[in-house]
Amino acid sequence: MTERPVEELLAEVEAKAKQCVACPLAQTRTNVVFGEGNPRSPLVIVGEGPGEQEDATGRPFVGRAGALLDKALREAGMARRHVYICNIIKCRACVIENGRVRNRPPTQEEIRACAPWLDAQLTLIKPLVIVCLGSPSASTLIHPNFKIMQERGLWFSNRYAPAVIAALHPAYILRQAGEAYEKAYRSLVDDLIAARERVKEIRRLMEEMKPIVPEGEEQMRLF
Ligand code: URA
Repeated sequence: MTERPVEELLAEVEAKAKQCVACPLAQTRTNVVFGEGNPRSPLVIVGEGPGEQEDATGRPFVGRAGALLDKALREAGMARRHVYICNIIKCRACVIENGRVRNRPPTQEEIRACAPWLDAQLTLIKPLVIVCLGSPSASTLIHPNFKIMQERGLWFSNRYAPAVIAALHPAYILRQAGEAYEKAYRSLVDDLIAARERVKEIRRLMEEMKPIVPEGEEQMRLF
């Protein structure tokens, strides 16, 4: 049986996601922000959810937080084309406060309603390493009640990838000033560098573990 390309399969899922009405965010969104980048990348970055710019354009991380993420990726020797970027929820979560629209963290119900899309993305892409940006992403993909300040930079695994790490969210970093900003930004770059190194390490291990006898029956005789 010939396998269909991941790009084609993801495009099918995206087309369905664009019709999603599984939660009330469907009523207020401008665009579904599915995700983008290289679906053959071993490294997937998962943020929290679209903000104003992302909702307006349909693309993840295109606002100020996105510019900071791009800068951090560059410092870690990567660009968007090297990774796949998406969010735990695909539609903007916001509230109106004093007549102004403000982003808010997704609720558990919204995360649950959106989970099939993230599940399909990660199942199709099969990354070696996932980087969770911020605590809602880490609590969804690593363990509930994730403590971002204590547990960022540590390695975990989940059913989607052998290596999963959480880093500070660029939007949080942008709210810091002076030394706190520098420290937080440096930690994001360090975690991205660690993620890139981990991909290389896993690939090395996979290479070493390749069976001496190549395929099929021959391989079966090993066991
Ligand atoms: N913040 C996120 O978590 N995701 C985006 O796509 C943009 C900002």
